Amino acid sequence: MLSVRDFHAGYPSVPVVAGADLEVGPGEIVALFGHNGAGKSTLLKGLFGVLGACRGRVEFDGAAASGLSTRALTRRGMVLVPQDRGVFPSLTVEENLKMGFWASGANEAAEYERRLQRALGYLPLLDERRRDKAGNLSGGQQQMVSIGRALLAGPKMLLLDEPSTGLAPNLVDDIMALVRRLRDEEQMSVLLVEQNVGQALAASDRVYLMKGGRITHEADPDELAASENLWTLF
Ligand SMILES: Nc1ncnc2c1ncn2[C@@H]1O[C@H](COP(=O)(O)OP(=O)(O)O)[C@@H](O)[C@H]1O
Ligand SMILES: [Mg+2]
Repeated sequence: MLSVRDFHAGYPSVPVVAGADLEVGPGEIVALFGHNGAGKSTLLKGLFGVLGACRGRVEFDGAAASGLSTRALTRRGMVLVPQDRGVFPSLTVEENLKMGFWASGANEAAEYERRLQRALGYLPLLDERRRDKAGNLSGGQQQMVSIGRALLAGPKMLLLDEPSTGLAPNLVDDIMALVRRLRDEEQMSVLLVEQNVGQALAASDRVYLMKGGRITHEADPDELAASENLWTLF
């Protein structure tokens, strides 16, 4: 689904990601772990076309995708749920969701209703809060809005940047369960950056470790969970 070779990304005069290689297969959840500052968010933003001046070879859904804009990538089915969630606080929950629909280039009312009902099926809490201003929701609920907005774009692949950070433990479980359902029921591919390593290991099919702007290890989640030197790898 996604294949990345020798990827470089950063900020003006700050190179961060320096030659990252990774693959995410169809219907696969791949976790990406690394210390703060390792370059995880920069990698995701770079892949999603948010940063200028990235280079490397990227293939997405069977076609070359190097240098594509965020808009083009969204239309092809890749969506980033950013670490800061990017929710529009003064818009209602449903207006936020609608932004995802428009971002995908779709505009048919019937298709909107279909995607909306499907997303609300996964995120029933948002149905109750549909007309509330997103800014009045809790952090966990805003994370659901951010994921819901991504779902309204009809994605084949989600890039999730720390979806569970700062959430209460029961919400962390909810988010992980949701990610698994999206894989199992929608065959979605997921690249999942997480600080909640234990839960992410339980949900993921494969794991990468990132350090200093590169992918330094690839691992099997069960082996890594059982590994005594897990932390020395970081
Ligand atoms: N907007 C920015 N401008 C300049 N440097 C940045 C910016 N955002 C992040 N960085 C730097 O890039 C490095 C990697 O950050 P980031 O990708 O956010 O790491 P992670 O998500 O793994 O914690 C850090 O050293 C950080 O200071
Ligand atoms: Mg980050």
